[in-house]
Amino acid sequence: MNGEPAKLNDDVAERKQAIQGMFNAIAHRYDLLNHLLSAGIDVYWRRRALGMVRVRTPQAILDLATGTGDFALAARRLKPGRIVGADVALAMVRLGVPKVAVGPGAPIRLLGGDAERLPFRDHSFDLVMAAFGVRNFGHIPTGLAEACRVLRPGGELLILDFTEPSAFGFRQFYRFYFKHVLPVVGGWISGNRQAYAYLPRSVGTFPQGEAFLQLMAEAGFVDNRHKPLTLGISAVYQGVRQ
Ligand SMILES: C[S@@+](CC[C@H](N)C(=O)[O-])C[C@H]1O[C@@H](n2cnc3c(N)ncnc32)[C@H](O)[C@@H]1O
Repeated sequence: MNGEPAKLNDDVAERKQAIQGMFNAIAHRYDLLNHLLSAGIDVYWRRRALGMVRVRTPQAILDLATGTGDFALAARRLKPGRIVGADVALAMVRLGVPKVAVGPGAPIRLLGGDAERLPFRDHSFDLVMAAFGVRNFGHIPTGLAEACRVLRPGGELLILDFTEPSAFGFRQFYRFYFKHVLPVVGGWISGNRQAYAYLPRSVGTFPQGEAFLQLMAEAGFVDNRHKPLTLGISAVYQGVRQ
């Protein structure tokens, strides 16, 4: 009995380390494969999610699990004062830094940082967001609680991530693509088949729809809602910090 919390902590730490190592290993091919394997739809999804933001003119935005900074870059369209992106995989962040250093709009600062233990004070941000990141957290409730802590009261959480489609026919096609095509192409281009076999597994175990809204409510968010995109391959989750 006494050993159980320690075991949970060990499992979480081990999972986090594996995820960090995996993203560091595929960082050099991440952008290319993202756009190739999704046929560019990931760009549309990020834009669509940002179009749903309800909080008015967010001044300070935090992008969790920012990777190479694509969601942070897209958030410039909200015309904030500043954007910060944090990620545990430094190889991803290093590739993002030159990308976000150019172009008009808000300054973007990318740094190494764990979403489950954020190096920011309480109530620092108006909008906290994450694209395809939360699914990879070591312990999702801890990450959601941290997002809640660093948001100001009335601030918004915006999450975009994969879901499994339910429509008959499309679901079978999606499963075939995710299980048989994606790991082969992803493995071939990145040299890391494991990483692209992990993707469908992680989507299969990620809480979706109402189950994810329940986790958001338990972390302290209210007015929670979700919207499936593109036949339910991905979804946007939104909530407000009380
Ligand atoms: C699929 S990538 C998404 C990157 C980017 N948000 C995008 O839209 O392309 C997932 C990222 O989550 C990061 N990640 C996983 N767990 C994390 C955590 N606990 N804290 C911060 N970043 C994390 C990984 O290092 C990886 O860069």
